[in-house]
Amino acid sequence: MTPLAVTFAGVDWQNPVVLASGTCGYGHELAEVCDLDALGGLVTKAVSVAPRHGAPAPRVGMFDGGMVNAVGLANPGMVEVKARHLPALFACVRRARVLVNVVGFAIDEFAEVITHLDDFAGPVGYELNVSCPNVKAGGMEFGADPQALSAVVSRARAATRRPLVVKLSPALPAIADAARVAVDAGADALTLTNTMPGLVVDVARRRPMLGFGTGGMSGPALLPVGVRATWLVRKALPSVPVIGLGGVATADHALQYLLAGATLVGVGTAGMRDPRTPGRIVRGLARWCDRERTTLAECIGTLQWPT
Ligand SMILES: Cc1cc2nc3c(=O)[nH]c(=O)nc-3n(C[C@H](O)[C@H](O)[C@H](O)COP(=O)(O)O)c2cc1C
Repeated sequence: MTPLAVTFAGVDWQNPVVLASGTCGYGHELAEVCDLDALGGLVTKAVSVAPRHGAPAPRVGMFDGGMVNAVGLANPGMVEVKARHLPALFACVRRARVLVNVVGFAIDEFAEVITHLDDFAGPVGYELNVSCPNVKAGGMEFGADPQALSAVVSRARAATRRPLVVKLSPALPAIADAARVAVDAGADALTLTNTMPGLVVDVARRRPMLGFGTGGMSGPALLPVGVRATWLVRKALPSVPVIGLGGVATADHALQYLLAGATLVGVGTAGMRDPRTPGRIVRGLARWCDRERTTLAECIGTLQWPT
């Protein structure tokens, strides 16, 4: 084992740094500007049953604490992803691991996407984005409704033997309770967290900055929120692996998540700003392990709580 290697959901990863869903396309689009095989892996952009055009422009905007986006989960749909994007992705990665991000707007759609993709060799698992509206049941987010969350995960569980990672919203009032529902229904791991709902106003125009109005907040302001969510879930479910995500731009940020209990660490907004950032984080983690004479696997969850 090298100092950076970790095991997550039964799979070996050469290091814990993964590109976050929605910020790296289907990977192949980035292959010329980012050495994907130097990273632990990546999580694809959302895949839904049907193609989605997404939200009106502008879809992203900046504010002092980071970024807001309302992309509307735009994607070409599961048929096109399997036929074109996954083959292109696996033509350019060998060591980096791939999780496919799955989204649905009715309970059965998550399992439908997985059933369609599951005979494609390559992905090591699926990440379920449950921070989206259950359209057939009044639009409440799946992750915020324990019954719907349990149904989504258990039907997805029945559709595959690959690991299932459930991605939760930081806005859930009791994130550890939602995590437990997901694990009881068959999730192997959790991603903490998705973007935080927000509204940025363009004062000169007296309108929201984003075409959709509200959006998801990501970047620096999300770091302490995601680290806390990771720590809360680690305390409640110590044996369940976590992908820590939100606001990571340096090796120090990644270490905050690892110490709080994450096994993998996602990088989203910071990698969109500069695609060299995830590689720099990997090198920074290697220097830290060298200096501290330790391995990352030894450090996961070793945050000392003040007594
Ligand atoms: C432009 C953009 C698009 C995103 N699209 C998705 C998506 O399709 N599915 C998903 O689960 N998360 C999506 N996310 C959320 C990220 O995966 C991540 O949870 C969030 O950005 C927090 O990490 P960060 O602060 O490092 O960006 C998106 C984020 C951004 C900025």
